[in-house]
Amino acid sequence: MADMRTNLAWFQLPNPILTASGCAASGKELDQFFDVSDLGAVVTKSIMLQPRSGRPTPRMAETPSGMLNSIGLQGPGIDAFIADDLAWLAKHGARTVVSIAGGHTDEYVELAHKLRGHSAVSMIEVNISCPNVESRGQVFACDAIASSRVIGAVRRAADPAVPVFAKLSPDVTDIVHIARACADAGADGFSLINTLLGMVIDTDTMAPALGGVTGGLSGPAIRPVAVRCVWQVRHAIPHLPILGMGGIRTGLDALQFILAGASAVSVGTTVFGDPTAPMRILRELEQALDERGFATLTEAVGRAHHSAAYRYMPAAAEASAG
Ligand SMILES: Cc1cc2nc3c(=O)[nH]c(=O)nc-3n(C[C@H](O)[C@H](O)[C@H](O)COP(=O)(O)O)c2cc1C
Repeated sequence: MADMRTNLAWFQLPNPILTASGCAASGKELDQFFDVSDLGAVVTKSIMLQPRSGRPTPRMAETPSGMLNSIGLQGPGIDAFIADDLAWLAKHGARTVVSIAGGHTDEYVELAHKLRGHSAVSMIEVNISCPNVESRGQVFACDAIASSRVIGAVRRAADPAVPVFAKLSPDVTDIVHIARACADAGADGFSLINTLLGMVIDTDTMAPALGGVTGGLSGPAIRPVAVRCVWQVRHAIPHLPILGMGGIRTGLDALQFILAGASAVSVGTTVFGDPTAPMRILRELEQALDERGFATLTEAVGRAHHSAAYRYMPAAAEASAG
């Protein structure tokens, strides 16, 4: 069977299957289904400085091939997270990617400081799909300057031994522009992608289905968008690793992300319906690589870019949208 070991910058993982932030809390719930230390890593729900109760209910709506959520950044705050969740993950031998979120740059910096020196933290994922309170609520990830400020500040504040990944939003005209700004600011890699902003209207009440009005669309519906983002960022910035995600349900879905240039993938929405999915996807991916003659996972990373039959030109690809 193929060697499934991979790296996210200098973080070494035994396999490329991670959970997605917000879709498996801090991993405790998954432990009844499989050993969380068998995952490449657990990615925790984005944590903020203070405890938060999230957005108004209802906070979930179904869509034809995905889910719309407006959970918001509900959580216990960083101190309780470190004392309880991080301690639990360390005790269970889980490699841990801590996702952090804030309303202004200083908040991200304080979070990064608080995580310094905790050996259980293998990597930091910076969720910048949050409203910037200093910029009339404009989402950091939709603005290259705001994104680079946060990523640069977190990189300087975080433990130098811990890679810092920028988690980008697909809700931008040019994701490569944002990715380049984050790379220039010192990002060690990218997590691609966060949810797409969406909305459902309940035709009985004739009102928005979600209490928060808009929400994040996830699941299979967004997979082609996610694969496209991974492809574009890999093409433009091939030296930085990518953690890919968006609608992964099977090993072949995961393989698409790997071939597009992701070194590892996160499984999110699928876990709500099938908590054992990450382990199944790992087995399926292993088999798919084997069937295609790959001795190692890393040989497959970005393989679709090598196709001699196809020359990718970003401008032409965008034009073809019409
Ligand atoms: C219920 C829910 C909560 C989420 N919470 C977070 C979060 O706290 N931080 C974050 O960066 N992404 C969050 N996400 C986004 C996921 O991590 C992931 O990027 C996205 O859902 C795409 O993957 P998927 O289609 O496999 O779910 C959340 C997604 C869902 C469905």
